[in-house]
Amino acid sequence: MQADIQVIPDTTELSHVVAQWWLTLSQQAIQTQGGFYVALAGGSTPRTLYQLLSQSPYLDAVDWQKVHVYFGDERPVPLDHADSNYRMAWEALLSKVAIPEENVHPILIDACDIESSAKNYEATLQRTVVVKSNGIPRFDLILLGMGDDGHTASLFPDTLILDEKTKLVAPVYVEKLKTWRVSLTYPIINMAKHIAIIAAGDAKADKLYEICVKQTKRNPIEQINPEGELIWYLDSKAAKHLPPEMLNKVSLANTQANMTGA
Ligand code: 6PG
Repeated sequence: MQADIQVIPDTTELSHVVAQWWLTLSQQAIQTQGGFYVALAGGSTPRTLYQLLSQSPYLDAVDWQKVHVYFGDERPVPLDHADSNYRMAWEALLSKVAIPEENVHPILIDACDIESSAKNYEATLQRTVVVKSNGIPRFDLILLGMGDDGHTASLFPDTLILDEKTKLVAPVYVEKLKTWRVSLTYPIINMAKHIAIIAAGDAKADKLYEICVKQTKRNPIEQINPEGELIWYLDSKAAKHLPPEMLNKVSLANTQANMTGA
């Protein structure tokens, strides 16, 4: 485990630290390539981060007109369904910032033809994500969560999508949930310039110990090894079984100091 593991005491401060990183990366990307291309995580953990980004100082500091938002995965439900990752992001962030409608790219899923839904999203990525490497769209930032079973996005244990080496977006049937999902695959996730894995709460602690200390390599999230930068952002509860020497204890104060060069 070569990645940087940052532990921030509580979820709100953790979300501020990630929001600061979002701000920095967006400013760099917009300055160098004219736009910031980011894929959002679903689930519940990132909600606080999205809410913070919709408020000052981030509301005013991020150049939302040049932000392009995508999704790491989606459930086979309408965009206004309570289970939709898009709906969570819309309510917490996208409805509150001046991001152009054409810059927001939900994963549209036709439950009767989920293969085409995945192909269509891959075509959207190829058409709209301007930076590519070896023909693969290169996100500036991908946000990921972690399930207590070691999944990330919809890369669940014992699913065929884990072996996908060519497609960038694929459907996946998740037996334990008895449902289909559409998800980004390892090839495009690992092409990202920066990846933030955000995990919080006691329920993630045992799995993080298995991943970070025992390094069993049995968990889908352990195959997240980007060419770029990978930072794990953990709260104290999620990191409680990890040895102190493995962790970078981060507080918002020193993050902001680093940001301003103070
Ligand atoms: C999803 C997410 C999934 C999520 C993890 C963690 O669609 O559910 O993509 O990978 O990030 O399951 O979820 P929590 O943040 O709710 O623990």
